[in-house]
Amino acid sequence: MNGEDVMDTILKTIDLTKKYDGRTVVDNLNIEIKKGEIFGLLGPNGAGKSTTMNMICNIVKPDYGTVEFMGKDFRKNKKELSKRLGYIPQNLAIHGSLKAWENVELFTSLYGIKGEELKDRIDESLEYVGLSERRNDYAKNFSGGMKRRLNIACAIGHHPDLLIFDEPTVGIDPQSRNFILDKIKESNKNGTTVIYTSHYMEEVEAICSRIAIMDNGRVIASGTSEELKKLVVDDVESITLEEVFLTITGKKLRDY
Ligand SMILES: Nc1ncnc2c1ncn2[C@@H]1O[C@H](COP(=O)(O)OP(=O)(O)OP(=O)(O)O)[C@@H](O)[C@H]1O
Ligand SMILES: [Mg+2]
Repeated sequence: MNGEDVMDTILKTIDLTKKYDGRTVVDNLNIEIKKGEIFGLLGPNGAGKSTTMNMICNIVKPDYGTVEFMGKDFRKNKKELSKRLGYIPQNLAIHGSLKAWENVELFTSLYGIKGEELKDRIDESLEYVGLSERRNDYAKNFSGGMKRRLNIACAIGHHPDLLIFDEPTVGIDPQSRNFILDKIKESNKNGTTVIYTSHYMEEVEAICSRIAIMDNGRVIASGTSEELKKLVVDDVESITLEEVFLTITGKKLRDY
């Protein structure tokens, strides 16, 4: 690997492994995210996507393997590096008994941002997700889509270099879904690297520059959507990612 490649990599997992009750749910996972890309992690329910993201974000401790973030071992440099990362977890992290702006304040202040700067970041984050008008409402009274948007606002106030989205569009209407996808693309255009986890292949195909398909804790194929399709057929127009997954695994990506 030459110097340029090392520079271009923002995050890398090396043999990342997790077992629960003796069962391997993430199995020697090696993925590499390049600076400036939207990287998609696509896999069915139970593939190990959230467990992988939780290990990347230091929420779950791996049984084996490491995460390199910004060229350093993330676990060993947590204090310095955590502020460079924003995580939008699959299970909402927001507090229903707090107002929208208080939720953003709580999370953004964890990164040491205070005073006027904190106020500005709260305003900016709520504006970004289109919730400025609802800033004084309690999160518990929000619709599902608004909760998802607030969950995002809580993760962006500290201006991270890498944003990780774990299934941010599950259970919301198409309008909110498109809003979130547009915002992810906008953040990426403004220089943020994105990891996007989903089991909706159309979304992953629409926004991601590279995709890893995960099943049973392993990456079974990775590349651009075109490269993945070429694994199965020559004519890439004739097949969807869903069919690629079905061909490789014999399984459907989604539970219908
Ligand atoms: N804390 C835990 N204790 C025991 N088993 C767990 C725990 N967390 C996850 N698992 C198991 O690990 C496997 C992978 O789960 P994970 O949540 O990572 O999958 P996922 O790909 O994110 O699925 P989904 O698309 O449903 O969110 C599943 O079989 C799950 O039951
Ligand atoms: Mg998950």
